[in-house]
Amino acid sequence: MRVCVAIDGPAAAGKSTVAKRVATILGYTYIDTGAMYRAFTLYCIEKGINCEDEKACVAVIPEVSIELKPGNLVFLNGKDVSFDIRTPIVNANVSYIASYKDIRLALVELQRKMAEKHSVIMDGRDIGTYVLPKAEVKIYQIASAETRAIRRYKENQEKGIACTLDEIREDVKKRDYIDSHRAFAPLKPAEDAIPLDTSDMSIEEVVNAIIDIINKKIKEIGK
Ligand code: DC
Repeated sequence: MRVCVAIDGPAAAGKSTVAKRVATILGYTYIDTGAMYRAFTLYCIEKGINCEDEKACVAVIPEVSIELKPGNLVFLNGKDVSFDIRTPIVNANVSYIASYKDIRLALVELQRKMAEKHSVIMDGRDIGTYVLPKAEVKIYQIASAETRAIRRYKENQEKGIACTLDEIREDVKKRDYIDSHRAFAPLKPAEDAIPLDTSDMSIEEVVNAIIDIINKKIKEIGK
């Protein structure tokens, strides 16, 4: 009995926080696809490649190996980069990397492989529309732009990542625009996704709402 749950939505909508908790409660594997685009971006930055240069970024695909390990750890070419992929410079560049079709195809292949064997909760922008179009449960999680900026700001403060609220507002706005306007697999709700506006919900409430949706769906399809 294998269940795939796709959670999509704009930047900083709280997808990963709730997806991690739901995965722990249900015993599913959590797959953070944004972390993979972030790791690729970090590689380009460290190599001194301009992330707006598609050709140069695509050329290094064979040099990049990304692994997600238990404990939500992200490894880039064998090195733990779980912290380094959350910095403002990666935030500012990741949407360029995520807009390049060849890079997406390479990472989507990995993502689909990871979902082959276990029940998974995968979060991202194109999971319900492109990566796992047959996912049993699809959720489109949103929150107002201001709520998202404040949440991300607090999260960064807790992690010791230096930034201002204004910087976060600008970053979120810019990423939303690039993510939803790219040509290939842009951010948009799947036709059969359940919308979930979390602006006025606590993390606990969102987690419970998602578990309810999953349980109802499992009953409905008799799994
Ligand atoms: O969820 P996140 O903020 O960690 O994602 C980082 C960036 O990666 C985001 O700006 C859009 C991109 N992304 C994507 O295009 N497709 C995904 N499935 C996941 C993330």
